[in-house]
Amino acid sequence: MSNSEQGHTCVVGLAWGDEGKGKIVDLLCECYDFVVRFNGGANAGHTVCIGDESFALHLLPSGVLHPEKTSVVGPGVVIDPSAILEEIDGLAKRGVRVGENLRISDRAHVVMPYHKLEDQLSESSAQQGGQIGTTARGIGPCYADKMRRTSAVRICDLMNFDSLEPRLREIVCAKRVGLSAVYGQDVVLDVDVIIASLRADAARLKSFVTDTGVLLQEAVATGRRILFEGANGTLLDIDHGTYPYVTSSGTTANSVAPGAGVSARTVSHVVGVTKAYATRVGRGPFVSELNNEIGDHIRTQGNEFGTTTGRPRRCGWFDAVVNRYSASLGGVTEIALMHLDTLSGFDEVGMCVGYRLDGRDITTPPAHVDQLERVEPVFEMFPGWSEDVSRVGTIEELPENAKRYLRRVESAVGVPITIVSVGPERSQTIIGATCAMTEVNDAASS
Ligand code: GDP
Ligand code: IMO
Ligand code: MG
Repeated sequence: MSNSEQGHTCVVGLAWGDEGKGKIVDLLCECYDFVVRFNGGANAGHTVCIGDESFALHLLPSGVLHPEKTSVVGPGVVIDPSAILEEIDGLAKRGVRVGENLRISDRAHVVMPYHKLEDQLSESSAQQGGQIGTTARGIGPCYADKMRRTSAVRICDLMNFDSLEPRLREIVCAKRVGLSAVYGQDVVLDVDVIIASLRADAARLKSFVTDTGVLLQEAVATGRRILFEGANGTLLDIDHGTYPYVTSSGTTANSVAPGAGVSARTVSHVVGVTKAYATRVGRGPFVSELNNEIGDHIRTQGNEFGTTTGRPRRCGWFDAVVNRYSASLGGVTEIALMHLDTLSGFDEVGMCVGYRLDGRDITTPPAHVDQLERVEPVFEMFPGWSEDVSRVGTIEELPENAKRYLRRVESAVGVPITIVSVGPERSQTIIGATCAMTEVNDAASS
């Protein structure tokens, strides 16, 4: 995307998370005034590499590494006060000051200690009808309370702690009784400890808290530019993902409006971030998964271990079916294709270009998890390339087989690739690839 283009942009993941959104937000944010998180919580782990340093951001927008940008945590995010303060303190220790450049929504919901406890208990309990493989950050239980309303706590409640306290005592008591009954054990929740620590956190958070919806609406009205940073990935979307193996928020650009408090007309560009292969962490269907030495090799080459939990990521070939589904659902205007370097050295590189369910071809993922588990991938195989591409700066310099593979990704997903990433660092990026790709396409067809 050229710097001169106007409009606001959203960066989202097109798969099951960890596509490289942090790197792309960091790269694009020099053209924007605001960087805004609108969904999820500390389940996210966005890596930004600057020089020799690597930062893992969970609740803070990746723009926070650029103090001249305003970073906003919107009302659609669920905030664990101790986690966000820990992140701020961790950055301060590394010389990154977070002050007036961070704004936190007064309407965002608070992840409480009992949410994290419930997340852990539900994951470890055999009776609960199967685990999701969550990040155990309390995300699902917090969003559930948000919908339930009466037991929810928002940031604005923390800012009026004296009136919150009696209600909080009742909520904690009810949670203790409820969790003990459901999980058949004496759950310990010390209300005085919870209140003391939350009161201290609330006092520290106060200077960051504001009505971020008004802030962003004014920014739009006065021609400032906003970059929205999606967390998780499209296939983890609560409504459109591989349910129930999803997270509990809307993860596409369609959730920017409610999650950030701006109008539905705000976002004009959507950058879909996706890897040149596929990964998933946690449980759930994964049609193009490679449960073999090829999958293991991708994991090792790509260093595919969770940024938040350290869990090994499941690996497979690029799935064009789900990427096309995600791109169409989220109005994706361009693709950032990540980790092309990881595919160097394979004799053949595969791509899932179709799904077969019970002997029939299908073009989109079915709704029911049982059907999705039965889907068989239709793979197309491509000759690989042995060259190290991690220092390549233009599309033209890429090996022919890599270019052919990229062209197939573009045509299979139906969206132009404008960024190709060949390593974790900023410098390892081919920008404006779409023009080059078009030229390559033209040359190929002439
Ligand atoms: P996010 O959650 O979408 O921001 O992605 P994560 O940070 O969880 O995971 C992406 C990982 O891949 C991080 O360790 C990045 O530093 C790394 N990464 C990003 N782009 C590339 C790339 O093109 N090549 C390689 N080898 N690593 C990359
Ligand atoms: P980023 O933003 C990868 C997955 C979890 C689990 C499911 C539900 O770094 O891409 P949750 O804790 O949200 O209730 O877990 O969703 N998950 C992610 N996987 N990257 C993420 O975020 C994820 N956020 C949630 O592994 O399968
Ligand atoms: Mg991540």
